[in-house]
Amino acid sequence: MINKTNYSSNSINKFGYDIVPIISSDDLKTRFEGIVDEIRQIMPVDNLIIIALLKGSFVFLADLMRLLSRHNIHMEIDFMILGSYGDNAESSGNVVIKKDIETDVKGKSILIVDDILDTGRTMKKAREIIMERGPQCVKLCALLDKPERRIEDVQADIVGFEIPDTFVVGYGLDYARRHRELPFIARLEPEPKG
Ligand code: IMP
Ligand code: MG
Repeated sequence: MINKTNYSSNSINKFGYDIVPIISSDDLKTRFEGIVDEIRQIMPVDNLIIIALLKGSFVFLADLMRLLSRHNIHMEIDFMILGSYGDNAESSGNVVIKKDIETDVKGKSILIVDDILDTGRTMKKAREIIMERGPQCVKLCALLDKPERRIEDVQADIVGFEIPDTFVVGYGLDYARRHRELPFIARLEPEPKG
């Protein structure tokens, strides 16, 4: 069941658009069990480091790491912020490190997690950066994937949900810095332009 708690029509209208849930909290939770199995299948987990790309992935990371620990998989975590400088950030494609990890990844099993795989620029750059540092292996896990939007040739090893080319918020994802706190994934109606 989709949880719309605290999103009365008034609070929705205040933003000038409707928040329409498309993946419920329960659906997220159910899928995560499968993600844990997939992690175990595709990589060694005895010296696992999860690198979360901020800000969007922190909610996903928090749930995933606790579920992994319930399945007796333990890990170190670290954070990286990638972005583009300048006004034309979205389209420039020039992804740079804004905040680096502090952990030495040499010889370790690295899982890079992000909220969403869109053009693929962020994930591709993150993988390149980590690969250069001599890890044992690097795998990519995206909570959401919008394959229609891809510009770079990159695929995640694990995808939570494939979604159509529509802008989404909630569960860590924002629109104009809002809605990260929603416990479900929603689209906006009408869809924001640009
Ligand atoms: P990429 O480099 O184009 O794959 O972009 C990935 C980043 O763009 C994600 O980490 C998000 O921060 C952001 N992004 C892409 N699509 C959406 C969306 O539908 N909602 C919110 N953020 C998005
Ligand atoms: Mg992001």
